[in-house]
Amino acid sequence: MQVITRRSALTPLLLRLRAEGHTIGFVPTMGALHEGHISLVAESRQRASITVASVFVNPTQFNDPADLEKYPRQPEQDAQMLEKAGCDYLYLPGVEDVYPNGTQGGPLFDLGGLDTRLEGASRPGHFAGVAQVVQVLVETAVPDYLCMGQKDFQQCMVVQALLQQMRAEFDRKAAAAQDTLQESETESLLWTPHHTSLVICPIIREAHGLAMSSRNVRLSPELRLRAGAIYATMQYAASLLPVLSIDTISQVCTENLNAEPDFKVDYFLLLDAAGLQAVHAQTTEIVIITAVLVGGVRLLDNMVVAYPTV
Ligand code: PAF
Repeated sequence: MQVITRRSALTPLLLRLRAEGHTIGFVPTMGALHEGHISLVAESRQRASITVASVFVNPTQFNDPADLEKYPRQPEQDAQMLEKAGCDYLYLPGVEDVYPNGTQGGPLFDLGGLDTRLEGASRPGHFAGVAQVVQVLVETAVPDYLCMGQKDFQQCMVVQALLQQMRAEFDRKAAAAQDTLQESETESLLWTPHHTSLVICPIIREAHGLAMSSRNVRLSPELRLRAGAIYATMQYAASLLPVLSIDTISQVCTENLNAEPDFKVDYFLLLDAAGLQAVHAQTTEIVIITAVLVGGVRLLDNMVVAYPTV
């Protein structure tokens, strides 16, 4: 595995590989890697001939400076794990390589209100920061497959919306440049946002059900074990779907989790999985989605189930 710290070195190299007929899978991360990330690398290797990962703790998605400070950093260990997993290139940039013009004033994306609800409500500006960095990373890694984990369900929806806007923006620019650009030139573009599709990969869990997350290392061993209750409660919620109303299930499960010592539920909701809105007549899948503070550590989890159940 080659470690590359500059976009100016990585992108031309990847475009050359594309020209030779390779396909590229990309796994963006903030490091502190665990088996969940490694499963994304495995998925990328199944789909593409070249796998690129990035490790970059993006400052613009942290609304709390203390959280950014505390975020675990272990680049050497991460590089070893990626190498072992069969990753081909690691992009390991500094802030100035990702944001050469500074972190302020990047493009603003219309995330259709997705950015102000759930995680967005508790962490204002978080998803704008995610969209800002993912745009840069995707344009750097020029992938066919962007592999991300379902654990961050809302983030996956934000990235889907971002990719749509990147494609629309590309089309607008291409149409505006049509007079000056020959058809053969547009056809020979080695990568455009139209080449990239998002691959949402399943949640990897610890043996007792806790979703793997870089934040889990901040839990005491006792709390880490008890945090398995989040998964058990989501399963309970799914089992109640045929018998109770959605609002009642949400209330019962919130109360159950809040009854656990050191647990504080931010939200435990059952929503339409396609739009993260209230369940409606056309809903075919529900996402049971939750954020729980366990000993002060914010844990996210979700589960998608068919709806109606009969
Ligand atoms: O999920 C993450 O680790 C981050 O939000 C991402 C997608 C790498 C952007 O910094």
